[in-house]
Amino acid sequence: MCGIVGYIGPQEAADFLLRGLRRLEYRGYDSSGLVTITPHGRLVVRKAAGRLDRLSARLSDEPLAGSIGLGHTRWATHGAATDDNAHPHVGGNDVLAIVHNGVIENYLPLKERLESQGYRFRSATDSEVIAHLVASYWERQLEKKPALDRAEIVQSGYAPLIAAITKALSKLRGTYGLAIVFRDFPEVLFAARLGSPLVVGVGAGEHFIASDASPLVGRTDKIVYLADHELAIVTANSLRVIHRDQGEVQHDVQVLDMMPGDVDRGGYEHFMLKEIFEQPETLQNTMRGRLSVDDATAHFGGLNFSPQQLRSVNRLLLTACGTSWHAALVGEYLLEQFARLPVEVEYGSELRYRNPPIDNHTLVFAITQSGETADTLAALREMKRQGHPTLAICNVVGSSIAKESDGGIYLHAGPEIGVASTKAFTSQCVALAMLALYFGRLRHLSHAQGMHIIEQLQRLPDLVRQALAADAEVRRIAAKYYQCDNFLYLGRQFNFPTALEGALKLKEISYIHAEGYPAAEMKHGPIALVDEHTPSVFLIPQGPVYDKVISNMEEIKARGGPVIAVTCQSGTRAAELADDVILVPTAEEFLQPIVSVIPMQLLAYHIAVLRGCDVDKPRNLAKSVTVE
Ligand code: G6P
Repeated sequence: MCGIVGYIGPQEAADFLLRGLRRLEYRGYDSSGLVTITPHGRLVVRKAAGRLDRLSARLSDEPLAGSIGLGHTRWATHGAATDDNAHPHVGGNDVLAIVHNGVIENYLPLKERLESQGYRFRSATDSEVIAHLVASYWERQLEKKPALDRAEIVQSGYAPLIAAITKALSKLRGTYGLAIVFRDFPEVLFAARLGSPLVVGVGAGEHFIASDASPLVGRTDKIVYLADHELAIVTANSLRVIHRDQGEVQHDVQVLDMMPGDVDRGGYEHFMLKEIFEQPETLQNTMRGRLSVDDATAHFGGLNFSPQQLRSVNRLLLTACGTSWHAALVGEYLLEQFARLPVEVEYGSELRYRNPPIDNHTLVFAITQSGETADTLAALREMKRQGHPTLAICNVVGSSIAKESDGGIYLHAGPEIGVASTKAFTSQCVALAMLALYFGRLRHLSHAQGMHIIEQLQRLPDLVRQALAADAEVRRIAAKYYQCDNFLYLGRQFNFPTALEGALKLKEISYIHAEGYPAAEMKHGPIALVDEHTPSVFLIPQGPVYDKVISNMEEIKARGGPVIAVTCQSGTRAAELADDVILVPTAEEFLQPIVSVIPMQLLAYHIAVLRGCDVDKPRNLAKSVTVE
């Protein structure tokens, strides 16, 4: 989704801004732009639709000077991906420029009013209203007092500028991560947040702003996370934060735990491939320090509820979007099996507008990689509003969902840059497995049963390493089928969410139509799709429904459909029936989704590469969807 960077300090802003935008590319975007205030006191904007390389080429032809500036990557919501619609947007008589993430719901009436006052809009975006609205309040003050007394304004801590911004913000309905520079005040920039994240990086004699911490890695490890309704007033040497209701507030400077290696490709051709291969370590990191052999259970530092309180929970509601929703489905099987707790899984986008009857002993879990997904956040807020205890399973530290939930579990999987989620999914599944163990041990699981689960979990990084060894075979299979237009992914029980996730991965990055189904359900419709050009990927490791899935496989073979089997042993019926076999190590049933999803990620990856798709930045998708 859209990205913001900003710089103020002694250096050329454009260098940092462009580099910062590259670090934000992973969020997904379709146009980009920069603004600086030049040493001659002009606001100069460069924008380009399409990839950042176009903006970079434009900047090589016409460089931007200035040591204060803003940059933006836009993901189109209102108005097509054109140069004009790209940010930054200039307000009023070129008095200021803004970059904005989020959506302004009431932009139309505001736009009509501003147009009637003579403000000329140059884009079809909702964001441009913010530029003109702030400008209108600022210019109104100038009209009252045309002789601008700079010294007085600086002396007042930029009070008139702050007044113009806060007045404008009070008129907006929607969400914003927002940064503003004023042409006549090149020594200060402003950043405001409501529902769309913004961080300020504190350097030596310089400050940075960004929509997440990744552009700051290598420049500073001192970070201030802005909260909703906060406005930061940032100069090279100072940072003040004003809250809408509380006035000036102290800001916590936190230490960022990210290394440059975390945000570059580390020798892999794509972030996605790097992240697939990182999974043995990321799973280890998610489990680190959380499995207690003494108590045969899992421990989490951040749940913030006592065992007594959690003992009284009699139902769980898991809410999420996209891949995280698939992890929630895995969680449903896990929690039912280990904790015997009824679990409901609901999309964030549905839950936020549903009015389900939920009793007092229900615990709500939001599951999210980014912690910023608008629908999941809104569902969480609605559940909080109704008074339910809420917890989050989240990867991004300090994200909105992490902050707003009552507590939770961080994944510690490191930054996930590839738009298609891989390592976050497996870490979510393992976090849910540990959670199921924890709830199980609060209830009826014996010490011996708990120990058995722990032993299996401890094997997991190694099992995933073995699953990754199938890479060469998966690549061969990808080369055989990459031109097909349709795929089916079929699995039962624990492997059903994996089938959904396998199909989603393929859709997301290769643009091939794929459907995931419970294998037996296939005969109620999808079987009509089967022909010799439609491969069916069967997830059939081992376990209680193995023979049932074999029957489904026979049904596909009888209709001439090619079958790719993901299974544990060669020489078995599954391997014999299949046209192609991907072998994965044998794992306990509850860990199969984590092991079997590895070749699904690799298959999607290799097919996408063979089709010439932009794996890390698939069309139309965003890493973090911060709009409804
Ligand atoms: C977007 C991403 C998906 C992701 C989903 C939920 O659609 O492209 O990969 O699964 O958002 O994101 P979250 O950060 O909440 O897990």
